Amino acid sequence: PVIFVLNGPNLNMLGTREPEIYGTTTLDDIAGMLEDRALELGFEIDMRQSNHEGHLVDWIQEANASGARAVLINPGAYTHTSIALHDAIKGVSIPVIEVHLSNPHAREAFRHVSYVGQAAKGSIMGFGAQSYMLALDAAARI
Ligand code: DQA
Repeated sequence: PVIFVLNGPNLNMLGTREPEIYGTTTLDDIAGMLEDRALELGFEIDMRQSNHEGHLVDWIQEANASGARAVLINPGAYTHTSIALHDAIKGVSIPVIEVHLSNPHAREAFRHVSYVGQAAKGSIMGFGAQSYMLALDAAARI
């Protein structure tokens, strides 16, 4: 079974992007960690990143249509703006888990609303790259 891991805008810059907030682990590093853990759990990871909102909508629909087990999504800043992502998640039957490296609730007020979190099965945030690993473990247990 496949678990999609979708990453939104600016997450391609991980490693050099505001390392005091997001750490120095790159998205490729995270992909490697997830693949190792998925192998242990008996899953396959399909990891993607886009800076474009519509790609993320398309991929949520594709995950559902292709019979994937779950979607992990770090929507980046679209977390706080995207009713399109909220609707996409509401419109599919597979579980979608929201993931963040930082804890948006402990940051600026504009990060305190999550349209994605309001549609997601659950949310894991604030544990850096480990947030993705915890979300994978959660997805594997659903
Ligand atoms: C983020 C948190 C968002 O508020 C921010 O816009 C990001 C990264 C995180 O993983 O901590 O791009 O999703």
